[in-house]
Amino acid sequence: MATFLIVDDEETFSKNAAKFLEKGGHTVRTAATGGAGISAFAECSPDAVVLDFRLPDIDGLTVIARIRALDAAVPILMITGHGSIELAVEAMKAGANDLLTKPVALGDLRQRLVQLAQRQLEATRLQYYETRERGAGGLGAIVGDSAVMQELRERIARIADVDVEGAVPPVLIIGETGTGKELVARACHFGSARRDRPFIEINCAAIPANLLESELFGHERGAFTDAKERKHGLIEAADGGTLFLDEIGEMDVGMQAKLLKVIEDGKLRRVGSLQERKVDVCVLAATNQDLEERIRQGAFRADLYFRLAVLKIRVPALRDRDGDALVLARHFLAEFARRYRKPGIRFDSTAEAALAAHAWPGNVRELRNVVEQAVLLAGADVIAAGALMLPQSALPAAAPTAPPGAATATIASAADPADGGSTLDRVEREMLLQALAVSGGNVSKAARELGVSRDTLRYRMDKHGLGNGRSG
Ligand SMILES: Nc1ncnc2c1ncn2[C@@H]1O[C@H](COP(=O)(O)OP(=O)(O)OP(=O)(O)O)[C@@H](O)[C@H]1O
Ligand SMILES: [Mg+2]
Repeated sequence: MATFLIVDDEETFSKNAAKFLEKGGHTVRTAATGGAGISAFAECSPDAVVLDFRLPDIDGLTVIARIRALDAAVPILMITGHGSIELAVEAMKAGANDLLTKPVALGDLRQRLVQLAQRQLEATRLQYYETRERGAGGLGAIVGDSAVMQELRERIARIADVDVEGAVPPVLIIGETGTGKELVARACHFGSARRDRPFIEINCAAIPANLLESELFGHERGAFTDAKERKHGLIEAADGGTLFLDEIGEMDVGMQAKLLKVIEDGKLRRVGSLQERKVDVCVLAATNQDLEERIRQGAFRADLYFRLAVLKIRVPALRDRDGDALVLARHFLAEFARRYRKPGIRFDSTAEAALAAHAWPGNVRELRNVVEQAVLLAGADVIAAGALMLPQSALPAAAPTAPPGAATATIASAADPADGGSTLDRVEREMLLQALAVSGGNVSKAARELGVSRDTLRYRMDKHGLGNGRSG
């Protein structure tokens, strides 16, 4: 839904066009002179302008120039009484985007205006699309055979079906870190009737509070010092589609109130604007925080919480998904075997036992990383438990004990006696794995990276059971 400005001295046309566009859900302002048109433009900041060529005070070309001085990008659709080519060229040169000849068919007018407004929004969307694989998503991407995961997929499918036009309820996705909340959000969108509309995602924790408002709501030119140009916000960019607010628990309380208003009224106001705009977005919000606790701390608004929590999706922790750790591990193994060109690679029974026994505090993300590192560093076709970056406690009893590493072992076991392997050992092991992952398994490169000799690194790798095969 967009806001349009019609500047035309022919009142019957303006009135009819306005009525017609409003019936389609758009907001329309009209002005009968060029001067009035320019002030109306500054006030309502429309998504597109319809401009008559001949006006009683100043001519259309001058009006275009004035509008362009305010906004370089807003689409302008020029209307002329007679379709002369010279006129069309002049109008385009002056900065019009499209031209219609009177008499204008209203259906035609609406179609072109909506197209023009869309094209401009597209620019905002593009930058958010680029970074993610488009279309990736849907229930099929959520791997897992456990009963809880089957229930989860069913719930997502049911929720994705709920879409009352203009009144879509928001959905709150809750789960520990790395459980797949983002995947669930994508499945909600791509399983819904909105699948061909934009899916816009923003991480509320990644953007400073003072910038988040203008990111979400957009701003008018001059709304604040750095606002050199008018900018569409992401909520507008998501119009007709889905807005995914990740880490909603981090959103500042003031913003929460504004967000609630958008959800309840389907309206927003750009920063520095008086004009309200209608939007139709499905809001998905995700968090790994206990929002009820945040409410008690005064950090989260109860009214927003209750609005969001009408439809809740709980994503279970990996340790609560019976047998899925192995299913997922094999899934990721296949993925990375393809990516890193290591066909035929597999886990041995010690590795499978370790994967099944681990508690996965970092959930699926942790599992995925563990498998990726193991594939990257694997020298042979078989991955054993020792090649998995897991705390020693998760390894089966037969796991190699750390060699008598003098001081390190003493300090470490004093600091962390309970978990079999020592903390320092673990940190060292992780550092090695990281350096090796960065160097793509190249030992010399990893050694340079760590500032040790190649031999020292080899020794350390052996110590941690990482020393099979690859050299460099
Ligand atoms: N069921 C699953 N099947 C396949 N891949 C999964 C599954 N769950 C999660 N993943 C993968 O695990 C990684 C982490 O998932 P995601 O980013 O969705 O987690 P999250 O819950 O949003 O975590 P955070 O709270 O840290 O943002 C991603 O690479 C995702 O593709
Ligand atoms: Mg996430």
